[in-house]
Amino acid sequence: MALQTYRIEREPFYRPTGDEIALFEAAHAARMPVMLKGPTGCGKTRFIEHMAWRLGRPLVTVACNEDLTASDLVGRHLLETEGTVWQDGPLTLAVRHGAICYLDEIVEARADTTVVIHPLTDERRALPLDKRNELVTAHPDFQLVVAYNPGYQSVAKDLKESTRQRFAALEFGYPAAGIEADIVAREAGIGQAMAARVVAVGERSRNLRGRGLEEGASTRMLIHAGRLIARGVAPEAACRMAIVLPLTDDPDLRDALAAAVGACF
Ligand SMILES: Nc1ncnc2c1ncn2[C@@H]1O[C@H](COP(=O)(O)OP(=O)(O)OP(=O)(O)O)[C@@H](O)[C@H]1O
Ligand SMILES: [Mg+2]
Repeated sequence: MALQTYRIEREPFYRPTGDEIALFEAAHAARMPVMLKGPTGCGKTRFIEHMAWRLGRPLVTVACNEDLTASDLVGRHLLETEGTVWQDGPLTLAVRHGAICYLDEIVEARADTTVVIHPLTDERRALPLDKRNELVTAHPDFQLVVAYNPGYQSVAKDLKESTRQRFAALEFGYPAAGIEADIVAREAGIGQAMAARVVAVGERSRNLRGRGLEEGASTRMLIHAGRLIARGVAPEAACRMAIVLPLTDDPDLRDALAAAVGACF
């Protein structure tokens, strides 16, 4: 089948932090478009991978950026030796064959790109391929999911109201300390007690948010630190490399973060 390579064979590890699995299952059953909101590195991508596996649906992921055109999403005519052939883009593939299409960083896409999803996300559930004079009716299993990090982008880059209001939303954040320690221990391959200390560094860094730091350390960063520790790097050096230095260039903030690391180890 066309989407075989988009199937997720093995269960992606996902530790729930609330009732997000049940809520997503309900939205999926209704084929409702869903928006995953939350800061970087908090588990949005991992969650949709897990849900696609759990629901037995192929997952077609597109990373949006400002150069992404509508044609990149829906497809284009390609020039071949025997003439032109049409090639479905990732969105069209998902629509035709019934996948979950995951548009990552949706706000990065230009408005004229974003509008192609409008007829798919209302009662029509159809995708017009103007260049081909075809209207593709969505497969019954098709679902659209988008992700975005609220807060970073300028107003100009925010989602249009007519786009935003087509989606139900799930909010993601950094998990509670105990859960986050489970995740770090498992993903980095370190012990629970060590993971708890790394998570404590993360929590302290998040308290510096707004005091010069744009974002605290993400779960992703804490896992990076854990992975260095798992390879024998001393915990303080690992936190400096994986958390303190990447987070900020400001010397005072680095001192504050280094002090937070020192307090945890
Ligand atoms: N609840 C969770 N269960 C399992 N792993 C998690 C969870 N939350 C975060 N992770 C881990 O954190 C890493 C980063 O998460 P992920 O890539 O899903 O972030 P994201 O929210 O998609 O970030 P971005 O907005 O930058 O794309 C994952 O690779 C995974 O190892
Ligand atoms: Mg992601």
